[in-house]
Amino acid sequence: MKNKLVITNDGSHSIFNAKINECYHSKHGAIVEAEHVFIRNGFSAVNKKQLNILEIGFGTGLNTLLTLQKAVQKKIIVNYHTIECYPLEKSHYSKLNFTDLIGIDQDDLLKLHTSKWEEELKINNFFNLTKLNTDLQTYVSEVKFDIIYFDAFSPEKQPELWTNTIFMKMHNYLKEDGFLITYCAKGIVKRTMKSVGFEIIVLDGPPGKRQMTRANKLIPKNRF
Ligand SMILES: C[S@@+](CC[C@H](N)C(=O)[O-])C[C@H]1O[C@@H](n2cnc3c(N)ncnc32)[C@H](O)[C@@H]1O
Repeated sequence: MKNKLVITNDGSHSIFNAKINECYHSKHGAIVEAEHVFIRNGFSAVNKKQLNILEIGFGTGLNTLLTLQKAVQKKIIVNYHTIECYPLEKSHYSKLNFTDLIGIDQDDLLKLHTSKWEEELKINNFFNLTKLNTDLQTYVSEVKFDIIYFDAFSPEKQPELWTNTIFMKMHNYLKEDGFLITYCAKGIVKRTMKSVGFEIIVLDGPPGKRQMTRANKLIPKNRF
């Protein structure tokens, strides 16, 4: 069963994963969704000059590309770590139309895909990329993050990635004022996040979705 390139409603590409039977993005628009969930409610919601970001699921590289573009525009230094256990084939990533639609050079996207795994690469003065070819379950980090873009397949398709154990790990890898952001707003997911110490904020979802979630790491009160 093969991955297939598809077009979403805003004209941007996505990938349909036949094995999982799910698309990488919403059919209502890959770029529209990524900008709403991860850029507007993630990257742009923080007022810092330097950010450590962790992405779960590099996939097409769309979240990485949009964050790179914003980092340069806003002159914010970003250390971007992204993990992926099933990298896309060249025949797919080389055809993605994101760069035309957001007005940047196609080489910028190709560079993200062809950069070596497990090595930090300085893309420009504002963006350092570390891609890790691993799965979330075995991933270990010594870095603490300001934001986690939690962009795994849905809890229906990959329940093993939306568990207590995984969210405890995510909570642990965040800075004290950090947060996790995700397109998912399922009750069971919010309750699981809450049970490991997250404060849950429900936000308006992207087109086609009523809600999404921001999970804040709470500073333990007894410390002050
Ligand atoms: C919903 S897609 C989102 C991809 C990406 N953020 C994008 O914008 O294209 C989920 C991604 O998570 C990856 N993935 C699936 N299982 C994983 C795991 N156990 N650990 C890390 N990544 C995983 C998939 O291969 C896929 O690329």
